[in-house]
Amino acid sequence: MEFIDLKSQYTDARERIDARIHAVLDHGQYIMGPEVAELEKQLAAFSGARHCITVASGTEALLIALMALGIGPGDEVITTPFSFIATAEAIVLTGATPVFADIDPLTCNIDPNLVERLVSARTRAIMPVSLFGQPADMLALNDIAERHGLVVIEDAAQSFGASYQGRRSCNLSTIGCTSFFPSKPLGCYGDGGALFTSDDALARAMREIRVHGQSQRYVHTRIGVGGRMDTLQCAVVLAKLERFEWELGQRRRAAARYDALLGEHVQLVSREADRSSAFAQYTIVLEDRGAIQAALHTAGIPTAVHYPVPIHRQPAYAHLSSPEACPVASYMAARVLSLPMGPYLSDADTHQVVEAVLLAAGVAATGHSALARRA
Ligand SMILES: Cc1ncc(COP(=O)(O)O)c(C=O)c1O
Repeated sequence: MEFIDLKSQYTDARERIDARIHAVLDHGQYIMGPEVAELEKQLAAFSGARHCITVASGTEALLIALMALGIGPGDEVITTPFSFIATAEAIVLTGATPVFADIDPLTCNIDPNLVERLVSARTRAIMPVSLFGQPADMLALNDIAERHGLVVIEDAAQSFGASYQGRRSCNLSTIGCTSFFPSKPLGCYGDGGALFTSDDALARAMREIRVHGQSQRYVHTRIGVGGRMDTLQCAVVLAKLERFEWELGQRRRAAARYDALLGEHVQLVSREADRSSAFAQYTIVLEDRGAIQAALHTAGIPTAVHYPVPIHRQPAYAHLSSPEACPVASYMAARVLSLPMGPYLSDADTHQVVEAVLLAAGVAATGHSALARRA
């Protein structure tokens, strides 16, 4: 069993993906070829945002968003410590300071109640992460931002395809940033990412920053980066986008199966009724994670820990706050375990994973009968 089965996805979509790749090889415009604009148009339409700007990675998207807002030394950005390192890294790279707000113990997303008390005269932005594919509480965060004149940048690297109160992730605040890292819900075959906004001036700034701050050929009106997404990767995403809604449905079906079989026995990362997850990860919370993960490994079931050390406890970031600053993030970092997930995870796979989890967690008898009852 694969943790995320990209091989089956390729087998299923081979003709479309190969045709798209060969079209690029035939026209030869490897940088900023026609697929780039085509993908940006389709992704903007999908998200509901007026603009989409593809970039070299999710990390680059976060950095370009902050640069376009003019965030830099002396500024603070409030963010979550329970994320992939890129979230805080992008802030630090601009010269600004990440300020960590602890997470909600149920959803593992940033807790808006803790955000407002961290707002200072230096705060410029809030950067929530829509973790595991479920949007953060964007309404509450947008409200705080509005009250204090801040901007909200959604780190939607894991949540492209999710929705919140009927709107798509990436279009829930001033700027949304996503990643097309291969294992993301919508992945390419290398690095890629995208920025979303409905603000025309910001869109223009982000387009320029993506290409070395260039407003016309060899006219550099801003400091920028080499941040383009290459044409071949855009072609891969275009091919995958055709089946993306179906894949989201499959991920949700797999999650619903896990919910039904595991929910009575182990703690799940909970999901709110007003939002849907893109299920980048399906994550459970275990007291004895180490032993259960080892047992699953022995049973041939791959798992992953997102993330074992919260950012505020990482060596390069530890000077920013006390290790005790975000106790919920630290608690969760010691207990979360992500199970195999993806559009090609079969019913049989889900059952095999659940049986192994229940056996390892010492609820084998009830587990088996629960499986039998529901089968
Ligand atoms: C929450 C989060 N932010 C940012 C990133 C960075 O994306 P990329 O790997 O495309 O640079 C990731 C990807 O792993 C992520 O999960």
